[in-house]
Parts: sequence; structure tokens; C-alpha cells
Amino acid sequence: MGILDKHGAIERNATLLMVLSLIVVSIGGLIEIVPLFYLQNTIEDVEGMRPYTPLELAGRDIYIREGCYVCHSQMIRPMRDEVERYGHYSLAAESQYDHPFQWGSKRTGPDLSRVGGRYSDNWHVDHLTDPRSVVPESIMPEYAFLKHTPLDTKYISDRLKADQMVGVPYTDEMIASAREDLLAQLDPYSDGIDTLMAHYGDKVVARNFDSQPELTEMDALIAYLQVLGTMVDFSTFEPAASR
Ligand code: HEC
Repeated sequence: MGILDKHGAIERNATLLMVLSLIVVSIGGLIEIVPLFYLQNTIEDVEGMRPYTPLELAGRDIYIREGCYVCHSQMIRPMRDEVERYGHYSLAAESQYDHPFQWGSKRTGPDLSRVGGRYSDNWHVDHLTDPRSVVPESIMPEYAFLKHTPLDTKYISDRLKADQMVGVPYTDEMIASAREDLLAQLDPYSDGIDTLMAHYGDKVVARNFDSQPELTEMDALIAYLQVLGTMVDFSTFEPAASR
């Protein structure tokens, strides 16, 4: 009896076929999955990456709450047209502290992963208040109410703690001073600025983002937009493979 005749027995017996298929698929699955448990980290460490400051994190939550991701992606694909338009393709490390990540695939508006520093704070205030005032053909909705909505900072420590639980390296000290750090970022001359920088590095941008005296959701959202894609210095970055 040749091997093909034996195979005939499997093809005629549905249960046997299922059991054997399951075994084959399981072996394939294990080979793919098991090595991941033995790797320390599947994301290469990249210099410059840090967790979001409390203000940026609050802004990120507003970004998610308002559904900005419905129209905007945050992942630059490694293709020439993408890289020429938006800048260096996105690295895995750049979203390592994002829970959940904002990669997305729907682009009614442009990708935002490197929008940080591209426009002034005032441009963002104008654009979010009335997109048509700066981009006449824009179909983006207005978010003027963010300018009049005070930012709720009551749960900011808990918010950092939740991220700590899923692996973001916030220290207990950072969690304890989350509210002070948040307020310090709005005023470069405040007493808390040194603690903020000790926690998040001296590249943290501290200023009054919406130019109003009150702390609003607009401040937080713009602080978040302005940090997007700015943590890694691509003039010195080399991918691990070419090192
Ligand atoms: C209905 C789709 C839609 C939604 C929702 C939306 N946008 Fe936009 N966005 C656009 C479009 C279209 C553009 C391009 C025209 C323009 O600049 O207004 C744009 C442009 C932008 C730009 C300028 C990007 C660049 O590189 O020029 C920023 C920043 C931005 N949006 C932020 C946001 C934020 C923050 C939110 C959520 C509060 C948001 N958008 C929600 C459609 C949307």
C-alpha cells in the first residue's frame, strides 16, 4: 500500500482529518508563539522614547474620546510616498507606551503621528476651533468647546497608575505627583518645572498651549498633538539591523 492510499483513509474520515489537521496547525502555532515568551522584548529600545507626561496623557484621552482616530491614522508606512509626505516611517517603539495604540487605517484627514512641531499652538487653537478658518476646504468638525471645557484632573494619578499596570514605566513617585506635573507643564516658570523635567526629561515642552489663563481640554489636546513623533531624534537614529 502506497502512501497516497493511506492518505485516502484520512480524506474519507472527517473526524480523523479534523484531529490530524488540528495537530498540524497546533505545531505550526506553537512554533510561532513559543519563542515570543522567551524574548525579553519584541520591540527594540529606541533612545528618546519616554512615557507621556500627565498633561499629554490627558490630551490623548480627549483625542480618543472625541474619536479623532476615526479620521486620522498614526502610523507612517515604510513606503516612499508616505515617507516623503509625513517623515520617517513609524517605529514600533514609538507606540510602545500607547494603550491602546492609534495606528488605524482610515485617513479622511492626514496621518498625525509626526504632526508635533509642524504647526504653532495658535494654529492648532484656530484649526480645532474652526478648521475652515485655516484650511478653507477642510471637512473636519469643529471642537471649539474644548477651549471652554475645564480639564478634569481629579483622576490623573489613577490614570497613570492604570498605564503602570499594563507596563508603562511610570514610577510611584510620578504617579503621586501627577497633578503637580500636569500643572507645571503649563507654565515654564513654575516651581514644579524641575520635578516635571526630572520625571520626563528636559525635552518636555512646557508652556501655555491655548494662551488662556484657565486650564482647559484644549491645553491638554494641543500638548499631546505637539509631542507626536518628536520623541525620537531621527538625525541620529539607526535601525538595529544596520548597527
Ligand atoms: C470627519 C473627519 C475628521 C475628524 C473626526 C477629525 N479630523 Fe482632523 N482633519 C480632517 C481633515 C479632512 C483634515 C485635513 C484638512 C484640515 O487640515 O483641516 C484634518 C486635519 C487635521 C490636522 C492637521 C494635520 C496636518 O498635517 O495638516 C490636525 C492636527 C487634526 N486634523 C487634528 C484632529 C483632532 C485632534 C481631532 C479630534 C479632536 C480631529 N482632527 C478630528 C478630518 C477629521
